[in-house]
Formats: sequence, C-alpha cells, structure tokens
Amino acid sequence: MVKTLLRQDNTVEIELRAVQRQIKLLSGQPTSVWTYEARRIRGDVSIKHLDSFVGPVIRVRRGQRFIARFINQISETTTVHWHGLNVPEHADGHPKDSVPPGGQRVYEFEIINRAGTYWFHPHPDMRTGRHVWNGLAGMLIVHDDEEPIEQLDDVEEMPIILQDRTFNASNQIVYSIVGMEGALGNRILVNGRPNYAAKVTPSCYRLRILNGSNTRIYKLAFDNMPMVAIGTDGGLLHQAVEKPYIALAPGERVDLWVDFSRFHPGQSVPLRSLPFSATGIGQGPLPNGAGFEVMRFDIRPGHRGYTRLPRPIASKIPTPDQKEAVNYTNPRALPISFDRGRFLLNGAAFRLTEVASNERVRLKDTEVWTFANTTGTMIMPHPIHLHGPSFRVLERTIQNVHRANWEAMREGYTDEGWKDTILLMPGESAKILINFGPYDGLFLYHCHMLEHEDQGMMRNYLVYR
Ligand code: C2O
Ligand code: CU
Ligand code: CU
Repeated sequence: MVKTLLRQDNTVEIELRAVQRQIKLLSGQPTSVWTYEARRIRGDVSIKHLDSFVGPVIRVRRGQRFIARFINQISETTTVHWHGLNVPEHADGHPKDSVPPGGQRVYEFEIINRAGTYWFHPHPDMRTGRHVWNGLAGMLIVHDDEEPIEQLDDVEEMPIILQDRTFNASNQIVYSIVGMEGALGNRILVNGRPNYAAKVTPSCYRLRILNGSNTRIYKLAFDNMPMVAIGTDGGLLHQAVEKPYIALAPGERVDLWVDFSRFHPGQSVPLRSLPFSATGIGQGPLPNGAGFEVMRFDIRPGHRGYTRLPRPIASKIPTPDQKEAVNYTNPRALPISFDRGRFLLNGAAFRLTEVASNERVRLKDTEVWTFANTTGTMIMPHPIHLHGPSFRVLERTIQNVHRANWEAMREGYTDEGWKDTILLMPGESAKILINFGPYDGLFLYHCHMLEHEDQGMMRNYLVYR
C-alpha cells in the first residue's frame, strides 16, 4: 500500500470541501449529513473516501509540503484543524481563523510529524461538537520510509474510526446531549456504519484506531487475546507493548497489531468495549461506561500475509527526562474543573484570543505542565488535548477516593509513546513534558469532549520568541 504511491514531487495539493449530502446509512430513508470531500490536485498523496459521512482517509509522507484548498459549502462558519500535526498558527484551524459559508481558505504546512495516525475536523467557536456530530471528520495518515514497519509491503492495515450517533424515526442524526457529559449516541458506528463487520484473512493486521466520538470513552478489548499496541497519538512505538485492554478517549489514537492467524475461516472475532465506572458519567440510553460490541472481524479464507512483528517497529523514543524542562522544580499547574455550571481550564473559560499570564511559553523551551482533575462541583473524566507539538507523559497520580475506578482503567493508557491527548480520570493528575517549537504563535489546549470544549473548557497558550 505504502509503496504504490508515486514519489516525484515534494508538494502535495488537494481540494477539500465541507458539503451537505444525503447518504444511505440505515434501511429506509437516507440520512442528511455534513461530510468532507477531497480530491487530489497534484503530488504524491492518496485519498480514499469511506462509504459514509466520516472520512476521507488521506495519506501523505513526512517531509512533504501539504496544501489543502478548503471550500466551505455548508451553511455555517467552520474551520479545519489537523489534529496531532504540528503546524504554523495560520494553518491550525483556530476558531478565530473561521471560514464563512461559501468562503475558502488555504491551509499550507510541512509534514514534520512522525509516521502515524492523525486526523482532521472542524474547530469553529462553540460549534465544534455539532460540526463533528453532523459528520465532519477525516483521517490523515503520515508515512515515513525510514521506519522499519513502514518498509513491510504486505502488512494489511485498516483505518477504524469509532463514533456514536442517535438517529430519529426518519433516520436523521439527532444531536443528543446527555446531562453535563456531552453528546452520546445510542448506536456505535465504525467508519460511519452501524453493525460494522470487517472481512480479514488469517494473518496479521495493523489497525489504526481513532476515537472520533464527541464524548464516549472506549475500553477496547478482544476476548482471551491481549491488545498489542504498536503506535499511539504521535506515531509508532519503538517496541510493541501488550495490554489487557486499551483506554481510548475522544481524540486519541492507537495502532494495534492483531494476529488473526490463530483463527479459522468462518470464525468471527468481536472487538468489545468493556464496562467501566467513573464519577460524573453513566446517563442516557447507552451510557459512557456501558459495555458493548464495537465491531467484529469475520475470518475468511485467503492469503496469509505477514505474520511476524518487526523488531524494532520504529526508531527509538527517548525516555522523557523532566530535568530537561526549564520549570521542572516548579511545573505549570493547570486545573480542569466544572464549577457551578461552568467548564473551566486553568481557572477560566475560553475567550477567542485571550491568553493568561501563565499561558505564555518561550519558543524552544521544554516545560513540565501538570493537569489536575481534582476539584469542582462535579468531577468527571476529561481528555486534555494540546495543539502544537506532541508531548510525553511523565507521571500520573490519583486521589485515594477515586483509586478503584482508576485502577480499572490505567492499564489501558498508552503512555509509552508520543501523545497529544491524555485522559484524566476523576481524581487524576498528570505531569507532561513538552518542547515548544518549531512554530511560535497562538495555539489551543482543551478538553476533547467536544461539548466541554464548546462550553469553555479550552484556553489559548502563546509561544513567543
Ligand atoms: Cu482534535 Cu483542538 O482538537
Ligand atoms: Cu488538535
Ligand atoms: Cu471535559
């Protein structure tokens, strides 16, 4: 797959439209959705539309210059954000850089991130949840010839985008906000389709899993088979790690290596989300924390592809050392809270371009930031996401009253790799290490439960020279 891409020009250019469409999702009436449509203009890029609202899957290479000519053909102002990619401020899709209906914007940047699974979605002021829920989200895969696993021609890979939606009796998507949690659908969709089943042969697969849900957290597991993680938000791990289950909060990605060669044609392998509990969740028809089957893999006879995991998978990832940080003796403390009806981050709600005095960092500095999900009138899980550079997780701590729920989730964290989104369970604090650069400018950090973000659990930080 990787090798079939042409390789002549270092610039790739695409046209990307946000449009409204009718698509056939359920039996009966078609569903009205918003969706991205892309086409290649020039260069070494592959674009694959999935047969639904979500997508497309765009594949590029590290080192390329990427140009997306965006055309807004929906009825609302929107933006395009390249989640996980480290791009200049003008290309980051900040709500201040909004594109009105009928408007256009050129997003242009160099692909400097590691090979991995990234994604793109709208980021309009106070409307991100609706825009994503209506259907706007796609996957952006970065390839890099230098990584050992990328050199294996015949590894089968599969993008898997997890979302949930509620449909009304005429098959239309209903924006279903449940209490203070956010939008939670009563049906699980994979790649935009309910009851998703993928046909696989008895060989090894690389699953690129994205949690593109607004609010739902997944605790992913197979029956009697460990999860083998080979990549996280910021690309491949150096070595595979085995986990009993994978915790995947909104915005997070994981690359799994799955060996179906132990199964026989005719068998069906379910991927499940296991039940879990946390304070502040558990309402609605299919609550956050409920257990369910996410999808299944139907084993078909056929080609036995690659069956051994390459070692190493990718280049070495340095062990994070907090002593590299200019503030390691005094980390930046950033509380997350829901206080008397207000979603706050760093003690304040989002204002379009506001930056507090403790939200300014010097370009090229390495810093330790501590997020604490420990106060407020209601504590619930929050996945915190940073725009700009990926970071490393240094340490997590938990308050004793919340320990039991946390113990049932923490083995699923993939803190071994580069991250851009990190789940904080109730009572949890996390220390992360970030090196700011190469771009200066105004960037966002926020809760990736999109209704929390829209209601103010988002702030700017400024990288200054
Ligand atoms: Cu995936 Cu600021 O978002
Ligand atoms: Cu982002
Ligand atoms: Cu939140």
